[in-house]
Formats: sequence, structure tokens, C-alpha cells
Amino acid sequence: MCGIVGYIGYSKADNVIISSLKRLEYRGYDSWGVAISEGGRLNVYKQVGAIGEVESYELGDSTIGIGHTRWATHGKPSEVNAHPHLDCNKRIAIVHNGIIENFLPLKERLIKEGHRFVSETDTEVIAHLIEKNYKGDLEKAVVAALPELKGSYAIVAISSKERKLVACRYKSPLILGVGDGEYFIASDVPAVLEYTNRVVYLEDGDVVTITDSGYEIKNNGVEVSRKVELVSWSIEDAEKGGYEHFMLKEIHETPRVIEDTLLGYVSETIDLDVSFAAGTSEIIFVACGTSYHAALVGKYVIEEMSGIPVRVEYASEFNYHPAPLSRSLVVGITQSGETADTLEALRKAKRAGARVLAITNVLGSSVTRIADYVIYTRAGPEIGVAATKTFIAQLVVIYLMAAKLSMLTRSEVEKLVLELKLLPERVRRILDKEDKIREIGEFLADYENMMYIGRGLGYPVALEGALKMKEISYIHAEGYPAGELKHGPFALLGKETPVVACVIRDNTYDITLNNIKEVKARDSPVIAIADEKDEEVEKYVDFVVRTPEVDRIFTPVTYSVALQLLAYYTAKKRGCEIDKPRHLAKSVTVE
Ligand code: AGP
Repeated sequence: MCGIVGYIGYSKADNVIISSLKRLEYRGYDSWGVAISEGGRLNVYKQVGAIGEVESYELGDSTIGIGHTRWATHGKPSEVNAHPHLDCNKRIAIVHNGIIENFLPLKERLIKEGHRFVSETDTEVIAHLIEKNYKGDLEKAVVAALPELKGSYAIVAISSKERKLVACRYKSPLILGVGDGEYFIASDVPAVLEYTNRVVYLEDGDVVTITDSGYEIKNNGVEVSRKVELVSWSIEDAEKGGYEHFMLKEIHETPRVIEDTLLGYVSETIDLDVSFAAGTSEIIFVACGTSYHAALVGKYVIEEMSGIPVRVEYASEFNYHPAPLSRSLVVGITQSGETADTLEALRKAKRAGARVLAITNVLGSSVTRIADYVIYTRAGPEIGVAATKTFIAQLVVIYLMAAKLSMLTRSEVEKLVLELKLLPERVRRILDKEDKIREIGEFLADYENMMYIGRGLGYPVALEGALKMKEISYIHAEGYPAGELKHGPFALLGKETPVVACVIRDNTYDITLNNIKEVKARDSPVIAIADEKDEEVEKYVDFVVRTPEVDRIFTPVTYSVALQLLAYYTAKKRGCEIDKPRHLAKSVTVE
């Protein structure tokens, strides 16, 4: 997803901007560009592909500029489509994240008025609209252009004539970094952390004008003050810390993430406040990708523990289903807090009068402004595109929610808390034995198709395992309820299609073993994920990934960590770009 950076201060702007853009690489991009304002003109540099390792770029000595990493939506990745985009007279340059839905009619009108366009992008209309309104004051020109735009945007504009940046946001993330005598504007915090940990989270409708002497934020034309937050993440948090990939580092952070998330909500007992759910008739989870799988685990656990009916919907499909009732609790799960589909689903829920809860990992993210209630996971920044530690943190929050919504006795809650507190140690034991998982991962690297199966709690785990495998290793991997295989997918089985079976020792156990036997009878190699006390399963499969024994409801945690490592080592053996898989973005801010 696109990344935005703007800088005004005393350092060479091109170097600051490029180093900040590199910190946004995790969002995914296919081209990039920088514009600086110097001596009454704009110097622009654009390129397709990665920024690369060059430490210093020579656009000029200016100390003001903007930059962008583009993830193509309108128009292919190319130099001409890369941002920054300029007006006809090359006096104004802008970078943009989001989508301008009405760009076509705007473009047609502007062309009739004499504007010349060079790119296929929706973004270019913004530069021309600002140009049209520019009478020597960039802020006024931006503010005059905004009402014409329909869609979502985070924009930063610069002009060749004035030493200022003007930035604004609507439904796309944007933060302001406040340094000493220098200011940064960016899509996300890691971009500025090298320079400052003081950050303002801009809100929808904010327009910020930044000069050397400070910044002013207006919303609807009225000056507003926004809190400067101190970000506790260190720059090291956002870097690899000696691991070959962010993904591996982040998997290894899981024990600490569980501890940190528990620390926030558990003492002797569970302190999480769930009064937002009082009198709710149903819980509806809306989420995408991995967060959707966390929600599916939530369905099993919350229904089982509390008896409250739970619906789980892909956020992108939520619009096409009946609106929630006003007594519903709609829960958006999104690690980034910026996933456009999830935000839109939650807006719909609010319009229907439902209560809205967000579970997110990012303080001040867009979802926190939409939701009535927010529960934070405490996973720290996740840079690898594949969600790993944040998924586990989501599960921990879901367990706490389920327990608080349930009728458990005091001693049952205490037992659950004890089990939760043991989870970090259980996960450490998986990480200590990752060599065994690496061997199996390397074995899988030669295949092109895989199936993942599970029943009950094992089913969302299978879905998530398959998603991890396909997104980073590019092996075609499908997750199925184990009982569904014989209704069609059996046709794909054979020695060229390994099957990963999530085997949980609960009421699904015997029947899952039967399903494994059916698969083996069709020659597929079978890898079972099972706990260390399971003495039966190894008789029927080719490999077993052993995980420490935990209460059955926590198997999604231990099994998922094992499956994340399995996908990692398969992808590594295949030589894939693990942290930035092709075509994917960390934060999907378009619907
Ligand atoms: C997970 O590995 C994916 N990269 C992706 O499915 C992700 O979970 C999805 O885009 C939702 O993101 P969110 O949690 O930030 O909303």
C-alpha cells in the first residue's frame, strides 16, 4: 500500500525522505519518487522497483520535500504513474494515498479547461485541482480543492514558491512527526522514528500546514489542537534485530507479545472491561485475512464459553448482508487499524445503530476513531507483510473477551488465567525446536499444491496455516474443514498434494484421524500438527509437528506458531521474498 513522507527542517531533504520511505517498504510498493523544492523550482526523481541500498541521493541541497512509495491501483507501475504528480506548470507537486473515486469526470472537466495530464492515475487530478485554485497560497488552494474529491485520501502538497508543506487526510492514515526544528509527515510511525518519537495522529478532515516555525491544524476551517503522543517503540523494534527476516523475528517475539498483552488486562483475575457487551443479542465479527481467522476462532470460543451467538463476516462482504440490529455488538479486528474494508464495515454498523468495538494493534489508527470501544493488542510494530505475532495477540484478546462474557466460576477463571500465563513458555518450547519444523518445511518446498484440514477449532487454524503458506511461499494452499474434503477436493489428492492436518485431542479427534486415513488412502503425504501427548497420530501420517500440551481452547495459539514457522521455512527454501511477498501490501487501505 502506498507510503507517504514529507519533510521540512534543516537536513538534506532527499536523504531524510528516502531513508523514511525505506521504513515504509513493509507496506509494499512497486515504484517510488521524491520531489524537493529548491531555488523556485521543483526537482523530481521517480523510479520503478525498489529504492535499493544507495545511502545518498543527489536531487539538490534543499531541506524541504515530499516522497512516496506507490502500490499500483490506477495504471501500471511506471515512472510516469509514480508519485509525486505535478501540475501543468510544475509549480505544485503532491503525493497521495487512497483512491479518488470521481477522478474520471474531474479529469475530463479539467482537460476541457486546458489542463494537460501525463499519467493514468487518479491522483494527478489533485495536482491540477490545486493548481486551478492556486493564487500564491498553497493552504488555501488545497482547502479549495478538497470538496471536489470523492473517495479516500492522505495528501501532502509542496510548491516551488512557498516554503511550507500542506497535508490532509480523509479515510487514509497520516501522522505528523514533531522534531526539534524539523517536521515530518508520514503514513505510519516507523517512517519518522529515526528522527523523533513525538507524533500527532491526524484525524479525518484535518488539514495541517507546516513551516519552519511550527504547524497549524485546521478541521472544517477551524484551528484544532491535537495531542502530541510519545511513541514507545524504539527504532530497533522496527528493525530486524539480527534475524534474517522480520517474519522470523516477529514469530520469535510471540512469547513476549502474549506476556505484554496479558499484562494489560490480567492481574490475579481478568480486568478487561466488557461492559460494552451488556445486553447484546449477538456478536458480529468483521475482518479480513488473518484477522478474519482470529474472528473465526472467536466464534468457536465465545459461543462455547458464553452461549452468545456469534457471526463472522468478511468485512468486504458485510455490505451485502442484512444490517446489524441495534442490539448487536459489531467487532472489527484489524491489526493495522487501517484496512479499508474493515473500516467501511464498521461505519455501516454504526449507521445501523449497533455498538462498535475495535481490536487493533495500532494506537491512534483510523479504526480507533470509528469505534465506540477499543481493545489494543500489544504486539509492537509488525513489519513482515505476513501477520504472525499480531494474530496470536488477537487470539489472546479474544480468549479474555470470551472468559469475561462467560458464566465461568471464579475458580474456572483462575484456572484459565493460569493456563494463559503458561502460554509464553509453551510457545518458547516450539521455537526451541524449530529445526524439526524447518526440515518439514524444506520437504514441502518442492510441491506446488497443498491442503490444510482441521475440525472445530482446528478449522480456522487450517485456514490460517494455508494463508501463511500461500502468501509467502507462493505454493497453492487451501484450507478446508476436514469433513469437506470428500465433497470435491478429494479429486485433487495424490502423492503430489501434501495435506497438513491440525489434530486436536478433543471431541473432533477420532473423526479427524478417520479423515487422515482417507487422505492417506489417496497417497497424499500427510503432516500432522499435534500435541506432544498424542501417541496415536504418528501411526497414520508421514511427519508430526509436535507442540506442547495446552488446554484445547489454546491449541490455535501453539498450532498457529508451528504453522507460521512451517510456512517460513518452506518459503525460505524456495528463495521467496518473505517479508514483502509479491503483489501484497501490509496495510490494505483501499476497498
Ligand atoms: C496476513 O498475513 C495478511 N497479510 C492479511 O491477510 C491481513 O491479515 C489482512 O490484510 C488484514 O489486515 P488487518 O489485520 O491490518 O486489518
